[in-house]
Formats: sequence, C-alpha cells, structure tokens
Amino acid sequence: MSRIGFTCGTLLALSLLASSAAASWADEPTPLKIGWFGFYSGAAAAGGQETDAAIKVYMQQHGDVVAGRKIEILKRDTQGQADIVRKEAAELVSRDKVELMAGITLTPEAFAAATVSTPAKVPVLIVNAATTSVLTNAPYMARFGFTTGQAVAPFGTWAAKHGYKSVYAIYTDYGPGLEAGRVFKQTYTAAGGTIVGEVKPPFTTPDYSAYVQRAKDANPQAIFIFAPAAGHPIAFLKAYKDAGLDEQHVQVLATGDLTDENSLDQLGDASLGMITVFDYSEAHDSALNRAFVKALYAVAPPGIRPEFGGVAAYDVMNAIYTLVAAQNGIIDPDKTMAIIKGMHFESPRGPIAIDQNRDIVQNIYIRKVEKIDGKLQNVEFDTIPMVNDLGDPVK
Ligand code: PHB
Repeated sequence: MSRIGFTCGTLLALSLLASSAAASWADEPTPLKIGWFGFYSGAAAAGGQETDAAIKVYMQQHGDVVAGRKIEILKRDTQGQADIVRKEAAELVSRDKVELMAGITLTPEAFAAATVSTPAKVPVLIVNAATTSVLTNAPYMARFGFTTGQAVAPFGTWAAKHGYKSVYAIYTDYGPGLEAGRVFKQTYTAAGGTIVGEVKPPFTTPDYSAYVQRAKDANPQAIFIFAPAAGHPIAFLKAYKDAGLDEQHVQVLATGDLTDENSLDQLGDASLGMITVFDYSEAHDSALNRAFVKALYAVAPPGIRPEFGGVAAYDVMNAIYTLVAAQNGIIDPDKTMAIIKGMHFESPRGPIAIDQNRDIVQNIYIRKVEKIDGKLQNVEFDTIPMVNDLGDPVK
C-alpha cells in the first residue's frame, strides 16, 4: 500500500492551520453545500435513518466548520428511484450550487448520479452502490461502501475449503446480485465446489417461497444468497422457515446484506447460525467501533442499529472533511479526485483505503449470527485482509 499517500489525521492537522490563518477567505466564506442522497422512505427507511445518525455523530465529534467553511448538507429523499436522483442531482448542481455530492443506496441511483456528476465535474462520494461497474465511466465518483464481488470472491473459496461441497445459488436479478452470483460461482467452483442450481429473483420480488422451494428440491448442502438489504431479508427468512429448512440441514451462506443489523431483530432467532461475508459488523472488535456504536445509539431513533450504510456514511464524512481541509476550503474537482485516490484511514470497520480506480480496499470478514448479551449480532470469526473491489488481495 505504499502508493497511498494521505492520512486523514495529517490532513485534518493541515485544516486547523488553514482555518486559523483563514488566508484563502479574505471575505466571509460561503457555506460549503453538499448534496446528500438518502433512501428515507419505503423499504430502506431504517437505512436512511441510520446513515443520518452516522452523519450527526461525525459532525458532533468534528464540528461543522472546516477550513473556515460551514458544512451544509442538503438532503434529498431518493425513495430508491434513479429518476429522482437524476432530477435532484441536476437541481442541486445548477440551482443550489453544491460543490460535492454524497450518499446513494442502490446501483441504478449511482448510474443516474453519474449522468450529472461527469459533465458538471461534481465529485460524488458513494455510501452504498455495490456493483463494480458504477465507477467505470464516472471519473468524479468514488466508492466508500463495498462491492459484492469484493465480499463474495474470498467467500466462494472459503465455502469450498470449509466443507460445503454443494450449493444452490439465489441472487437478485440486477447489478450487485448478478455480480455476486457470477463471482461466487467462479471462485467456489474453482476451489472444488459444485453448484447444483440457481435462480435470479427480480428486485421487486415480495415472496421467496418458490425460489426457496426450488433450492430445497435440489438438495444442496448450503444456499448461497445475495439479496439487497431493503425488505428482502425478512421475505427470504420467512420462505426458508416455511420450507422447513434450518442451519443443521441447509446452511445459509450469504452476503451480510441478509443479516444487516436493522433486519436482525426482525429476523429473530431463526437467523442464528447463518454464515455471512461483509465489510462491517456492529460487533467488530475495535476501540473506534465501540466508540462509533455508542455514539450512534445516542443519536439514532429508537430501534435503529449501526450497520454497513452508517459506517460508510461516517467514513464519507471523514473523507469530505479531509479533502476540504487539504484544499483550504476551495474545492477543485480534479484535485479532490487526486486526493481521494490514495486516501487511507482507520474506519470503525477496520483499515480502509481508496485505490487509483477510486474504489475501496478493505478487510472482508466471515461472520456467524450469534446472540451476545441477549442481542443478535454478526460475530466475525475469519478475516481476509485488504482486498480490492474485485476481491483480490492488495499488498
Ligand atoms: C445496490 O443496489 O448496489 C445494493 C443495494 C442494497 C444492498 C447492496 C447493494 O444491500
């Protein structure tokens, strides 16, 4: 990781110098407006509330002025709709004069944001859109969440090497699901596993019973599933239970979207023993994470738990403060992207870095749902250190 240059600590120190000198702002500096796309209504509303809580935590800890500029976040509810993102992004840029954009939950929303970000040269810091290709033709976008390929590549190998000889694969029929399915099949079969069948439910599916029945009929040792966090986990678990399946007979191997903390309490004890792969768990054992979790519970609405979207939002805030500080409060799009490429810092999920492709490099963890102090948690028990968006190790 020698090519990675900036640490957030160094740059925040620069910011303090810049703000005390205030040399670049002879007149009263204008607020720095940041457009933020959240999924605040519908199936992912809990995720929207949770990312908002994470923003609040960061701003409580670090204040709302960086290099003399007041940070102003203009939040927009996307309702998960790409068309809304396209329209709001255009308005935020042309009318509100935002200098940065951030947030975003779904892959199609990221593609929509790119249609504005690229021609207007407004950088977008993505919280969650997990298909590798969203960055390909979007030079002013960078990802701080994860990609499904990043999580799943080591997981396919892990599953084959840990005695799961046959798997039925279920993955949602759109970007991140297709990537998860393709990569799992590749790495799992390369390590000796056998895929006994597969099915691709549509993104809008409200009911998994037909898909789980097909999996059961194929009699696999395990089901691999990718389903987006918004609404799908409960539907899958209901079908899995209704089909009379349990972890003793057909092990669930999933990406962590299935057992995200804001679904876990609704999934209940039937989720115990599920094995998942992901970049973040509330139960991650580090001092920084314990502080983040405590602070988030203090500001989040009742019932909202820390999860992958919140930690990525917290890290996006850290990155924003860093790049405002590094440029003394004057945002230049090309300099911004140059600073982002090479950023690295400690996140509540562990060490993270952004590479030259503007994509995230981070640890991937294998976890099991267990009850800790009466609470369902994703307990990490294996770590694949620092992999890139394709799931390849980075030295
Ligand atoms: C995505 O659309 O990229 C996406 C959405 C929800 C997830 C993961 C990925 O849980």
